[in-house]
Amino acid sequence: MDLNPAEFDQIAREVFAPVYPVIADQIKNKTCITKGICLDIGGGSGYLGIALAKVTELHVYLFDKSPEMLEIAARNIAASGLDSKIQTLPGDVRNIPFDDQSIDLVVSRGSIFFWENRPKAFKEIYRVLSPGGCAYIGGGFGTPELQKQITEKMLKNNKDWLEMVKRNTGKHNEETFKEELCSAGIPRFEIIRNEKGLWIFIRRVN
Ligand SMILES: C[S@@+](CC[C@H](N)C(=O)[O-])C[C@H]1O[C@@H](n2cnc3c(N)ncnc32)[C@H](O)[C@@H]1O
Repeated sequence: MDLNPAEFDQIAREVFAPVYPVIADQIKNKTCITKGICLDIGGGSGYLGIALAKVTELHVYLFDKSPEMLEIAARNIAASGLDSKIQTLPGDVRNIPFDDQSIDLVVSRGSIFFWENRPKAFKEIYRVLSPGGCAYIGGGFGTPELQKQITEKMLKNNKDWLEMVKRNTGKHNEETFKEELCSAGIPRFEIIRNEKGLWIFIRRVN
C-alpha cells in the first residue's frame, strides 16, 4: 500500500479530524456497545480509537500492520491523555492475536480497501467476536456536509480523490463485500451504503 504514515497522520489531523467523533457516535448508536474490549483494525494514527475511548468505557486496542503508523498512534494516545484506555498492537487482520469470542466491538475505518484475502479477514473478525459482540467496518466521512468539506480540501492536492472515494464506497464494493462475507461463512450481516459511506455491520448472536 502506498501510504506514508507521517503524511497520512497530517491529513488525518488537519483534514479528517471532525469525522472521527461523528463516526464514533454513529458506532456507539448502532452497536450500543460501550464497555469491554474494542479492536480498531487498521487503526492508523489512532483518531477513531481515541474518539471512541472518549465517549465510552471501552478499552481500545489500535491494531495495525504498520509499526511506523503505530509509533505515531502512540504519540497521539499520549497527547490525548487516554493512555490507560488505549494501547497499540502490531499485526495483520488475517491473523488477529486474540482468543476466540474475546472481543466486544471490532471497528475499522478506511482500512478494508487495502486488505488482501478479505474472506480470511472476515473469518478472523468473526472468530474473535464475543456472543452479542459487534463489528462495524468500512469507510466514510460521517455526514454529507463533512464529506463535501473534505472533498474540497483533498481535491486541492489530489485530483483523483473523489474518484477513489466513489470507487471505495460504491455499489461495486457493496456487492464484492457481500460475496466475500458469504464465502467467509458469516451467518448474518448488514451492509449500509448511504451518506455515511459504506459500512459492514455484524452482530454475533452466539
Ligand atoms: C487509510 S489508513 C486508515 C487509518 C485510520 N483507521 C483512520 O481512519 O484514520 C489504513 C490503515 O490500515 C492499515 N492496514 C492496511 N492493511 C492492513 C492489514 N492487512 N492489517 C492491519 N492493518 C492494515 C494501514 O497500515 C493503515 O494504517
